Amino acid sequence: MKFFVDSADVNDIKAAKALGLADGVTTNPTLIRRSGRDFKEAIQEIAELVSGPVLAEPVGETTEGILKEGRILAGWAPNVYVKIPLTKAGLEAVHVLRQEGIKSALTLIFSPAQALLAAKAGASIICPFVGRLDDIAQPGMDLISDIAHIYSQYPDIETEVIVASVRTSNHVVEAAEYGADGVTLPFKVITQMMKHPLTDSGIEQFLADWNKV
Ligand code: G3P
Repeated sequence: MKFFVDSADVNDIKAAKALGLADGVTTNPTLIRRSGRDFKEAIQEIAELVSGPVLAEPVGETTEGILKEGRILAGWAPNVYVKIPLTKAGLEAVHVLRQEGIKSALTLIFSPAQALLAAKAGASIICPFVGRLDDIAQPGMDLISDIAHIYSQYPDIETEVIVASVRTSNHVVEAAEYGADGVTLPFKVITQMMKHPLTDSGIEQFLADWNKV
């Protein structure tokens, strides 16, 4: 299962890399703004830090706009994937980029129908959002279950399912149970995954006993 760091902060990416948990990185305009970095400079530095995909998002809304920006982003480093929201223009752009040998990820996916279209268009990756579905009282993980089932019916589908909008360690575990190819997760979720109160109390007990030896 691949772990993509959901951050444009190089400190998060370095910390995940030190744990062997930076198979890729995903960014979006919000994360870039939050990092306070120049977009190109940040993406190029991140693309040097990890060997896997680095997802960078153009902001064009028309097919032509997405293509123009997407080709520029893809030229910044060999492992940059163009991350595009799922719209009609986005699907068209993915289809063209695929023919040009440029890899793309379709994002903001909230339904199995969108996931099916993304695979048909030739997206290398899809990012279905679970947390934001949970936010509106729709079980986000049901979407992952549906997509996993649909994609498994068609062995020729090469599109990878990288679960996004991951907020908790349970999201990661459930994504693994459904056989998702990976997750995009903020570093704080990685930290949360390490924690268990019985681990903490166990360490405390061992240390207390050792001090009595
Ligand atoms: O890349 C950001 C995406 O994973 C969304 O996360 O928590 O803002 O829904 P969130």
